[in-house]
Amino acid sequence: MSELKKIYLMYPKKKGTVAPEIYGHFAEHIGGVIYDGIWVGKDSDIPNIKGFRKEIIDKLKNIKAPVIRWPGGCYAEIYDWRDGIGEERPTRINFWNFYDEKNEPNEVGTHEFMDFCEAVGAKPYFAANMSTTTPLHIRNWMDYCMSPKGSTTLAKEREKNGHPEPFDIPFWGIGNENWGCGGNMNPDYYANEYRKYATTMHYTFRNKHLAKENPMEFYACGEDAFDFNWTDGVMRNLKDSLKLVNGFCMHYYCNIFESPYDYTDKQWDEMMEKASKMEDIIKRNWNIICAYGMEEQAKLIVDEWGCWYPGGYGPSKGANLFEQQSTIRDAVVTALTLNIFNNNCDKVRMANVAQVANCIHSLFLASEDKCITTPIYHVFDMYKEHQGADAIETFVTDNTERASSVSVSASVKNGKTLVTVANLSCKEDFEISLEAIGTEKEQNAKATLLSSDNLLKCNTFEEPDAVVPRSFEVDISKHFTIPKASVLSVEF
Ligand code: AHR
Repeated sequence: MSELKKIYLMYPKKKGTVAPEIYGHFAEHIGGVIYDGIWVGKDSDIPNIKGFRKEIIDKLKNIKAPVIRWPGGCYAEIYDWRDGIGEERPTRINFWNFYDEKNEPNEVGTHEFMDFCEAVGAKPYFAANMSTTTPLHIRNWMDYCMSPKGSTTLAKEREKNGHPEPFDIPFWGIGNENWGCGGNMNPDYYANEYRKYATTMHYTFRNKHLAKENPMEFYACGEDAFDFNWTDGVMRNLKDSLKLVNGFCMHYYCNIFESPYDYTDKQWDEMMEKASKMEDIIKRNWNIICAYGMEEQAKLIVDEWGCWYPGGYGPSKGANLFEQQSTIRDAVVTALTLNIFNNNCDKVRMANVAQVANCIHSLFLASEDKCITTPIYHVFDMYKEHQGADAIETFVTDNTERASSVSVSASVKNGKTLVTVANLSCKEDFEISLEAIGTEKEQNAKATLLSSDNLLKCNTFEEPDAVVPRSFEVDISKHFTIPKASVLSVEF
């Protein structure tokens, strides 16, 4: 008999609204993310919208992708926006060239990326280079993108390049991993540079934006995983510049130097352990933000996260840097992580899974005319109705009052409840019951289950539907089963 887990849905206890941007994405000029990933070129025989793979656009629309971060990552820290506009595009040494010897053709630049966002219906999040350029350079990029039609020389250049109307760029990261690839800075040095950039950027456009419904937001570079000295140093320095910082970008990868699809039960547990740490990292960063009185203004932006198995285990067999396959283990980590974000929606403003295609914790694997979704994609699909919903508190218990090995979040939108559950055990099925506190309990619900008969299975070009969800009706007035190593959503 499987152990019973009671999931209490505490309807009166609202945690806040789940910002849609928590379900965001990341597209860096690295490996196969852009070229042969999302971008196939305007003249390609592969169905495309303005050069971008139609299949990926349609599927990102289906999961209501709210925001896409671009152009990096570390790549952002050597990016010159002028290389990506106009007819003549220079070829440059890509930041990642030291790994894969690839150069950057700049076929995808500002206009193309904005076409992609428009086709998907996502907002753009630009990462501004702050270690190898100047504030004036970024000011000019803003001028080029956002000045009203015909108003400045750069606005006229934008018009000449095919876009008379301004682009709207609501989110700006100032630097990326500036403790590492972005200049190898210390916290004080970074924060002083941030002040310089953010001040210049603020006086360029933000004043006008502030009056709008969605004000422009500036984000400071956060720490790597557990390096809270960085958070403390940066926040200490920036605490008296409240207007200039709206977000603090933290990165956390579950790194494992093993194969993504050949693991033992022990390695499964280690991965779950690593992924669970996301909650501690959020809370510890948040405590520092609160300690400096910045919690009203600066929320957390988890703009890189996912499981990372360095080594090139995807279909490109190493040709695409950091391309990797994913199994149900990665899907369960995705579900656990998104539950943590939902449960901390008062602290987390945005999150961007790394990366959209052919790199790290991807939703798509694509090459030439082939394109498949990974199990990670299906979790985003099952969770999409959390976007913009009110998260409510949940509590999980069992007969023995032991710590639970299920992860849960729940939210309510337009009178509908969505409960998402991940079974973190790779050995045990559990019985679950839903206990509604503060409202009448329903009977009929739609359930969707993502599980796998073999935990090591991946979706491949040859077998694209090896790990896909199935939907069914469930009577939630009774107990029902969540199989080991699976993700379940229940809507009623
Ligand atoms: O996502 C790949 C790389 O990981 C990013 O460029 C960098 O920010 C991080 O170290």
